[in-house]
Amino acid sequence: MRIVMIGSGYVGLVSGVCFADFGHSVTCVDKDDTKIGALKAGRLPIYEPGLDELVAKNVRNGRLSFTTDLAGPVGEADAVFIAVGTPSRRGDGHADLTFVYAAAREIAHAVRGFTVVVDKSTVPVGTGDEVERIFREESPQADVAVVSNPEFLREGAAITDFKRPDRIVVGFEDERARDVMTEIYRPLYLNSSPLIFTDRRTAELIKYAANAFLAMKITFINEIADLCERVGADVQQVARGIGADNRIGSKFLHAGPGYGGSCFPKDTLALVKTAQDHDSPVRLIEATVAINESRKHAMARRIIRACGGEVRGRTIAVLGLTFKPNTDDMREAPSLTIIQALLDAGVMIRAYDPEGMEQAKPMLPTITFCADPYEAARGAIAIALITEWDEFRALDFARLAEQVADPVFVDLRNVYPHEEIERHGFRYVGIGRRSPQPN
Ligand code: UDX
Repeated sequence: MRIVMIGSGYVGLVSGVCFADFGHSVTCVDKDDTKIGALKAGRLPIYEPGLDELVAKNVRNGRLSFTTDLAGPVGEADAVFIAVGTPSRRGDGHADLTFVYAAAREIAHAVRGFTVVVDKSTVPVGTGDEVERIFREESPQADVAVVSNPEFLREGAAITDFKRPDRIVVGFEDERARDVMTEIYRPLYLNSSPLIFTDRRTAELIKYAANAFLAMKITFINEIADLCERVGADVQQVARGIGADNRIGSKFLHAGPGYGGSCFPKDTLALVKTAQDHDSPVRLIEATVAINESRKHAMARRIIRACGGEVRGRTIAVLGLTFKPNTDDMREAPSLTIIQALLDAGVMIRAYDPEGMEQAKPMLPTITFCADPYEAARGAIAIALITEWDEFRALDFARLAEQVADPVFVDLRNVYPHEEIERHGFRYVGIGRRSPQPN
């Protein structure tokens, strides 16, 4: 199949490269010529484990190319995927569809012969209908079928998630599109990943419902963690105990500082807005959004309490800035809110993150960025672990103890058993555990 991927961001790039790896011929298109120039030179705009090798391999074997020219490749394509950004619209939280509609207009003028146009971007229910309307308006003679094919990959595990998905969801209205999509995903369902065919609006809603459910699951365990602290229970054991029930499942039950990233915050908000517009509010998700927001501030207060409350003019070390490990993505990272609240309380921050510091620097211009955890700990009255990077799983506490002004370790990801850290003379504060909590 000849595939064109419009938008070389996270989803577009990973999907494009993986389709090429399945044997399809893929052209990735982006308006940003700096990005395309870098990709052509083998430099990736994002950090994703394994992606650079996969790009290099498929460029070498001629199945993958990059260009800023949309019209040429679209005219030749069997399927054109739209994988452009759908950020939150300023002011009202609705998904901003400007880029999706602009891409549709351009595609409309370039298609030749029957072409399947696939929405891979996360878009609100009804966007497929609107894209179809744009095609009718811009180019009435174009023979296109618009399909919704949401992507469920996670950053940091994107290639595995794409190649071994729990399911592939395809929403279509035209039988011919079903055949093309079946052909495109053949290597995956041969691998026994179920292909779920449905109508377009249902597919669009599945994506939002999935993300909202996961965000709610995390928020649920976060609230249970707070309760565990009050009643002297251990949230990790609770998660284990409930997760063993197949109906609940053990994943996404890690209590932490609140969810972040490019999807959950934006998609939960967009679902809330869509539901309100249709006079069918999703109150569980409204509560999820509010609880997650207040949690980040509560985390800052927890760190301050762990320091005894007197923090003005003192230094706190932060380990981990990205919204989760194995990515350089700082979008909606809980660390941003937590650090801002600490700065507002007069704290000086020394921070270290393995991949996120380039993105973080302009977002946090007043903090000190350090070369490693030990440099970050210098003179600190507490070390706060915010993102669970593997390299923070075996910290040298004896060495950290030599650096800090006060041995306090606030573990917002429950990476360590508290006994281990206390053995090194640190006071330990975790999340929802039976370790002593600050009052
Ligand atoms: C998410 C969805 O998982 C994916 O299916 C969708 O396509 C895009 O959004 P991603 O944003 O890459 O993927 O990250 P994910 O691993 O889902 O984590 C999101 C946030 O939730 C992170 O801040 C993470 O730290 C947090 N999280 C996740 C928890 O706090 N606890 C958990 O148990 C799981």
